[in-house]
Amino acid sequence: MSDYFPAKLALGTQFCNRKKEKEFLTKNVDKCRHTVLNAPRRYGKSSLVMNLVTDLKVPFASVDLFLAHDDNAVTKRILDGIGQAVSHILPLNQKILVKLQGLFSKFKVSLSAHGFSLDFTLAAGTLDPVDQVFSGLQGLSRLAKEENKKFIFFLDEFQDIQTAPSSKSIQGAIRHVAQETANIVFIFSGSNRRLLLEMFDDKSMPLYMLCDMLPLDRMSSDDYRSHLHKMAKKKWGEDLPPMVFDKIIALTELHPYYVNLLCNELWNLDNLPTYDDVFAAWQVCYETHEDRLIADLEKLTIKQQDVLKALAMHPAVEPTGQKFLSHSKMAASSVTQNIKSLLDKDMLYKVKKLDPILPQIYLHQIRVLDPLLAYALRKYS
Ligand SMILES: Nc1ncnc2c1ncn2[C@@H]1O[C@H](COP(=O)(O)OP(=O)(O)OP(=O)(O)O)[C@@H](O)[C@H]1O
Ligand SMILES: [Mg+2]
Repeated sequence: MSDYFPAKLALGTQFCNRKKEKEFLTKNVDKCRHTVLNAPRRYGKSSLVMNLVTDLKVPFASVDLFLAHDDNAVTKRILDGIGQAVSHILPLNQKILVKLQGLFSKFKVSLSAHGFSLDFTLAAGTLDPVDQVFSGLQGLSRLAKEENKKFIFFLDEFQDIQTAPSSKSIQGAIRHVAQETANIVFIFSGSNRRLLLEMFDDKSMPLYMLCDMLPLDRMSSDDYRSHLHKMAKKKWGEDLPPMVFDKIIALTELHPYYVNLLCNELWNLDNLPTYDDVFAAWQVCYETHEDRLIADLEKLTIKQQDVLKALAMHPAVEPTGQKFLSHSKMAASSVTQNIKSLLDKDMLYKVKKLDPILPQIYLHQIRVLDPLLAYALRKYS
C-alpha cells in the first residue's frame, strides 16, 4: 500500500511544492552561503532539505543533534557526519585511505567493514572536542576543495548542543570553518525555534550574522490543490470534490503535518471521500492525538491555558482591544504577557499571509498554531 501522506519525511512524489524555498536554497548552495531554516515544529524543514539534496544531486551529510547534550555526543555526531560526507565525495578504497589520512592527519582514518563509511577514531586521545570538530571540518573543506566539489552539511536539531559544556567553542569552530570554506554549505535547523534563533541572532554568540534566515511558512491552498488531486487520481481515479478539498484545508488550516494526518485517514477509504467523511476523519485524528494534546496543555500555566482557549474561540488581531479582553476576562497586561510566552513556545502564531479558501483567517491575527488543538479547545469550551 502506498503511503501517500507520510507522518515522517515527505519524499519524492509525497513532497508538495516548496518551489520558492528550493530556489532560495539552490542559489545559496551555488554561492556557498549558509542558511538557517526557521519554522515551527512539523512545518517541513527536514523534508525540504532532503528533497533539495536529491534534486541537486550534491553530496551531503545530515547530522541530527537531537539530545546531543554533552561534548562527546556532539563531537561524535559531527565526526560521523564528516565520515558520511567523505564517503559521498570519494569512491573509497585503500589507496584513497592513504590520501585521507594525510588530510585528516589528527585522526585515525579507517574504512569500515560495511561499505563506504569512515571511522574517525581519535589517534592519541589528545585532541579536545573543539579541536576534533575544527580539524574534522577543516579536513573536509580541504578535501571538497581538492576534489572541486560542493557539499551540503545539514545540522538538524542544532539548538540541542547548547547545553554541552563546550558548546560555544564548538560553535566557534564551526564559524571558523564556515567563514573560510567555499566548498561546504551549512544548513542549520531545529525544532525549538526560540533556542535556535538565539544562537544566530544574539551578538554574543559565535554564529551571529553568519547565515541567511529562511523562514518556512505554511503552503497555499493552490499548492495543495494539484498535489491532492494528483493523489486522489492515483487512489480513486478522479479529482477530489471541491467541497471535500475546501473542508480539508479549512480544518487543517494548511498546517503541513495536519494536512498529511487528515489525508492519510481519508486515503484509507475505499471510495472517494464525502464532505461528512472529512469531519469523521478529523474526529478520528483528534481521538488518536487527544492524549498528546492534553499533555501539551498541561505544561502551560492556567493563565496561558485561558488565553489559548480564548484565542481558539476568538482569534484576534488586537488581543488587547476591549472585545478580546471581554472574551478572555483578563487584564490587558496579563494577555500581552501570556501571548508573548505562547508565541515563544510556538503555541500561537501571527498570520503573515492570506489564503482565498480560508476567509476566516485575517492578516496579523493571532491564532492557535496547532489546528487540532484549536478544534479541541473550541469543541470542549
Ligand atoms: N512539502 C511537503 N509536502 C508534503 N508533506 C510535507 C511537506 N513538508 C512537510 N510535510 C509533512 O509534514 C510533516 C512534517 O515534516 P518534517 O518532518 O519534514 O518537518 P520538520 O519541520 O522537520 O519537523 P520537526 O520540527 O519535527 O523536525 C510530515 O508529515 C511530512 O510528511
Ligand atoms: Mg525535522
